Amino acid sequence: MNDADQDTTEMLDEQPNRGNRLYPRVTSFRSRRGALTEPQQQTWDRLWPQLGRDVGDDQLDIDAWFGRSAPVVLEIGSGTGTAAVSMARAEPGVNLIAVEVYRPGLAQTLQRIERTLDTDSPVTNVRILRGDAVEVLEKMVAPGSLTGVRVFFPDPWPKARHHKRRLLQAPTFSLIADRLVPGGVLHVATDHAEYAEAIRETGDAEPLLKPLSGESPISLERPVTKFEGKAHQVGSTISEMVWGKIGA
Ligand SMILES: C[S@@+](CC[C@H](N)C(=O)[O-])C[C@H]1O[C@@H](n2cnc3c(N)ncnc32)[C@H](O)[C@@H]1O
Repeated sequence: MNDADQDTTEMLDEQPNRGNRLYPRVTSFRSRRGALTEPQQQTWDRLWPQLGRDVGDDQLDIDAWFGRSAPVVLEIGSGTGTAAVSMARAEPGVNLIAVEVYRPGLAQTLQRIERTLDTDSPVTNVRILRGDAVEVLEKMVAPGSLTGVRVFFPDPWPKARHHKRRLLQAPTFSLIADRLVPGGVLHVATDHAEYAEAIRETGDAEPLLKPLSGESPISLERPVTKFEGKAHQVGSTISEMVWGKIGA
């Protein structure tokens, strides 16, 4: 991550979000401009109306959106959708929602889905939300409605003065825990050792979560994500953490 980018972004969006009901905070993402390529735009025009939504104030009717009732898994920060599409293919019985702020990443996710549609195994169980995952959880997702939340390689914001931008802090753990069904699973992976330690400590301190010990209601297999591929190349160690919501 480029410090100059971070600093510019900080000036742009460090204003507390006064509409936020839970806590004033800075966002965990950089404001990145990104134009779509022509093919990405064409795929976007074809698939977004059916598969995509922008973050909004209304609670989602997830079953209606997918056209079926099934366990719901939310992936936060889905990037270009490598993991989302691969997991949806591996778990056809799950309704998978990918949340991301970066539009070109979402367009690539739609392209990945579209490439499967005229094959023998079309991927039909992914929906896409564009916006801040914290807002999505707060406004659009009902308490006790998610079987899984996956956060793979959240931005580590390595400098101490940027730690306040990290997504996985106590209020987000508490929000995620509230939105999980009893027995639901939060699955996190990071390649950043110090962030991993902070995540583990904060997750363990959340009263509604406990490190998962028994069976999981959803797969704990994790495809190699695009970001993880780069982490492997530079020899980083990957930390993986899984909690279950109490009360199953
Ligand atoms: C380091 S990338 C990892 C992407 C992907 N999970 C992977 O492993 O390849 C982190 C992603 O999280 C997204 N992100 C950060 N904060 C977010 C938020 N609050 N809501 C939605 N997406 C967010 C960023 O835009 C970025 O694409």
